[in-house]
Amino acid sequence: MQILQRYRYLHEALARTAAGQLPARGDWDLKLGLCRHLYEDAEAAESLRKRIPQMRTSAAVLNKEPDPCLTLLMDELIHARNDYELAVGIYGIIRPAMLAAYRNHMARTQQIVDQPTIRVLRQAAYDLEEQVRWGEELLEALRSAGAYDEAATASFAAKLQACLDAAGGVDGQGERSKDIPVRDRSREPYRLPHRSVRDPRSMGPTTLARTGSPLKSGDPVERELVMKMRVRQEEMTACELIAAVYYSQRNMPWAFYYDLARHIWDEARHAMFGQAALEADGYEWKSRPQYTSDYDVNAPKLPGAQYTWLSIGIEEGAMISNGKKKEYEWCRDVAKHPLMAQFQDYDWADEVVHANFGRRWSPELMGEELPFVREVAKRELNHFWGEVGAAQQQWEAEAK
Ligand SMILES: [Fe+2]
Ligand SMILES: [Fe+2]
Repeated sequence: MQILQRYRYLHEALARTAAGQLPARGDWDLKLGLCRHLYEDAEAAESLRKRIPQMRTSAAVLNKEPDPCLTLLMDELIHARNDYELAVGIYGIIRPAMLAAYRNHMARTQQIVDQPTIRVLRQAAYDLEEQVRWGEELLEALRSAGAYDEAATASFAAKLQACLDAAGGVDGQGERSKDIPVRDRSREPYRLPHRSVRDPRSMGPTTLARTGSPLKSGDPVERELVMKMRVRQEEMTACELIAAVYYSQRNMPWAFYYDLARHIWDEARHAMFGQAALEADGYEWKSRPQYTSDYDVNAPKLPGAQYTWLSIGIEEGAMISNGKKKEYEWCRDVAKHPLMAQFQDYDWADEVVHANFGRRWSPELMGEELPFVREVAKRELNHFWGEVGAAQQQWEAEAK
């Protein structure tokens, strides 16, 4: 049970670290990977949270940190200063160590008595295998870009490894050091960035305006279709906003973080919808300006106001106005674009889920009933459209 507690802790801490780091990281593929893997971490943690209390253990242990050295490991990890450091920590050190521990656990435990645990670990190990393989490719790409300080990264990695070793490894069964490691970067608190980041080496600048993509024919249907693709692709900014809520709102029930992990990954999938459609039809998106308003405009707000703006203001609003249904029907019937119609169909289904998340969690975050929360959402929307509308006008004036 104590070992499963460590696994649970690591999955939850990795998810929270990915959420805190997401707005600060630039590499597009890394960003998408962080979103997917934090969702998979939340799924693994959810299964472990069901399993642990079945072993004559009080559910009260589920909110405890099992080992101060593991806590220090994660406290230091969140202070990664660039994409490469973060990727080395997650995909070069921690996830491979978890995978090795799970394989060892599954091989050595009594197969009959521990079958329910093995079943949980088998799924987690399957995800970890994919994550580690994906991470190796990403690390290779980041390394070959040659833009990172290898010596600084090596010393950051050595710190993380020292914390893990002092903890006796992932499962705590290795030799535990009596020399407790000290804080290094984590003597300062980690802060979310004021503005979200896109890798300037491979992507266009961030902007508060919707800038679309250069068109082939310029007819109105093409214009609207391509704009829809870009709006999907730019949903990364929604992932970052939810990630900021996930990271900065402490002491909520686990179900809150579990739902938000799904919410983040859904918005990343929507971004992939847009990317895939643009690339399939040969439209440039990566070098174009990147819309980051969801995060940037809302960054100074409290998590409750941030989540209310998105989940009630935007997402519930899109249900009330039938906006998602209309987008789907337009792609099917007017643009007659099967791929985008399929994407919009699933996007709509996801947004129904998100509006429900909003009705569940925004009142809890605000400490108020839904009618009050809906009034807050209206004000937040007014503020948001004020900022974004001005940026849009300026962009359009410059484009002429
Ligand atoms: Fe979305
Ligand atoms: Fe959504």
